[in-house]
Amino acid sequence: MGKQQEIVMSGIRPTGFLHLGNYFGAVRNYVRMQSDYTCYFMVADLHSLTTHPDTSELKTNIYRVLSENIACGLDPDKAAFYCQSHIFETSELYLYLNMLAYVGELEKTVTFKDKVRQHENNVNAGLLTYPVLQTADIILHRASLVPVGKDQEQHLEMARNFANRFNHRYGDVFPEPKAFNYGEELIKVPSLDGKGKMSKSENQNATLYLSDTDEDITKKIKKMKSDSGPAEKNSAKPDYIELFFSLMQLVSPAEVIEKYEADYNNCTIRYGDLKQQLAEDMIRFIGPIRDKAEQIRNDEKYMKDVMEKGAGKARKSARETMEIVRNAMGLNYFA
Ligand code: TRP
Repeated sequence: MGKQQEIVMSGIRPTGFLHLGNYFGAVRNYVRMQSDYTCYFMVADLHSLTTHPDTSELKTNIYRVLSENIACGLDPDKAAFYCQSHIFETSELYLYLNMLAYVGELEKTVTFKDKVRQHENNVNAGLLTYPVLQTADIILHRASLVPVGKDQEQHLEMARNFANRFNHRYGDVFPEPKAFNYGEELIKVPSLDGKGKMSKSENQNATLYLSDTDEDITKKIKKMKSDSGPAEKNSAKPDYIELFFSLMQLVSPAEVIEKYEADYNNCTIRYGDLKQQLAEDMIRFIGPIRDKAEQIRNDEKYMKDVMEKGAGKARKSARETMEIVRNAMGLNYFA
């Protein structure tokens, strides 16, 4: 199949704020894919009901996810960018797929077991069938390429199983969905405290959000650990110093990085200056995204147009698939 025929689909949970790790690990890839493939990018608002039944913040969260992704370059005229709940066909396919999913395999899913631990008073059936809904999202567009991180690999394996089970029982309808990320290692952005990678839920002071103010950014970077500098020329960098350089790789010009590398190697580096430089480069990167997202988010009419346009494209593809699905399943008593 040619690139344009292969279909890309991914879902984004509307919880939390986008951070630098999301940008370099996911959004930047979506932006690249939207020019190469037919893309469906979805805000997973139905999935969020499995753990967040209170919907009072949902609209705000959805506007945030939409606006932040658009500010990063996701183009609603290129990709279909839509809300899961706007596509009713998703729920229909979810129901059919539930009959092909075994309770035993769902109970063994790692994310389910984690959530049972975290939400022990709300172990609802939606939580159990989360991977079934995710499968419906993907195969509703007969997508084969799914840009996701490592944490979603088990869900994708289950999606392949459900799709194959459908095909065996009712006829070849769905291509096998597989994880897809341009064959390069996904860029992991390290946390500012050096503990693992940036994440939505962990230490907020060690995460740079795309909504951080200039002052937030400066403050977080100034607080990062440093020391009085290397004592010997060309010595190896401790992890917490390497961290500054890893972050500069993302946002600073090459000459700037070279200058600080040289300063480090001949022991003239001043970490106060390095932090100042990194903060400025980070602000130059995040500032315009933050301001654009805010402007977009406050434009209700634009937000509505985006959602309608996205739903229109997603619905068209969903309806075509569901025609095929109902026919394949023999649920066509009038024909
Ligand atoms: N489960 C995914 C996550 O937690 C979100 C998601 C929902 C998704 N539907 C999807 C991802 C379809 C890929 C394809 O991040």
